[in-house]
Amino acid sequence: MPTMNPRPAPFPRHLQAPGSADAPFEALLDAGELPPGSLRRVSRADVDVLLAHTSAGIVATDDRCPHMSAPLSIGELDGCVVACPLHDGRFDLATGEPVQMPTTGGLYPDGRYHPVWTPGGREPKVDTPGKKAEARRLTRVRRFRYYPVRVLDGRIEVALPPVPEP
Ligand code: FES
Repeated sequence: MPTMNPRPAPFPRHLQAPGSADAPFEALLDAGELPPGSLRRVSRADVDVLLAHTSAGIVATDDRCPHMSAPLSIGELDGCVVACPLHDGRFDLATGEPVQMPTTGGLYPDGRYHPVWTPGGREPKVDTPGKKAEARRLTRVRRFRYYPVRVLDGRIEVALPPVPEP
């Protein structure tokens, strides 16, 4: 259990957030405030960071669902899988991939289409044609972007790119 020695989780290197490789680490939270299995939002300027204490360790990414940007910090975490509170999409924070597409359907990160959710045993649901249905159909689940994490002196530190000047 990572309770006593919280550690950063490995993440897919190709999904590292642009600008974070050379960014300085900033202390965002006491490690004790993020027990195993918990989610927290920490805001820095106009960036909302999601800290997740997964079964593989601590992950930092944007606190925006990769579907329609709902705050994942008020979702549920089970192992490495975070469930979004808005359309029940489920995403594996270890891989960055959806493990359950949103109930609204739409596009996987690679562009494949997934239909609107239909309750078990029913005819496939037909989304009422129109602009909103088209928007749902064309909404592509983005890929997570990860920020490097370290735990130093009991503080969770995250490498965040500098905020652009206004
Ligand atoms: S906003 Fe998260 S699943 Fe739709």
